Amino acid sequence: MKVAFILNGRNREFEVSPEEYLLETLRSHHITSVKNGCNESTCGVCTVLLDGKPVLSCSVLTARIEGQEVTTVEGIQKEVEHISDYFGDEGADQCGFCNSGLALTIHALKKEIKDPSEEDIKNYIVGNLCRCSGYQSQLKAIKRYLEDHK
Ligand code: FES
Ligand code: FES
Repeated sequence: MKVAFILNGRNREFEVSPEEYLLETLRSHHITSVKNGCNESTCGVCTVLLDGKPVLSCSVLTARIEGQEVTTVEGIQKEVEHISDYFGDEGADQCGFCNSGLALTIHALKKEIKDPSEEDIKNYIVGNLCRCSGYQSQLKAIKRYLEDHK
């Protein structure tokens, strides 16, 4: 079946099977910034934005997103590089496997919640797991980034 949606600002059409998940569709079309960690909706590394909201692409059927807007880090490259600078400064940039999903979540958080508290930030990023950082350095980087971009 054919499914058309907007990917990083461009109208695209993909041939998919009815049971195919968005993670597979994207990765099989060279959008490899979207990672496959658990493939069962628990780790967050496959996060993309669907109409601006973070979703787990391993749990979204491609057939159900006709006409919607999908954003990956390729679509907000400049902002992601900027966020990465903050992560680097705080020593939060380690293996990098979680970075794409987390950067998209931070982008959505910035748009959705004005002046978030530490609790708001923790709640918002709760689905983005990281095996390396211990979260404290990530949290510091996110707080500084949001503070500098009010
Ligand atoms: S790969 Fe989707 S949540 Fe882990
Ligand atoms: S930096 Fe390695 S999983 Fe997060």
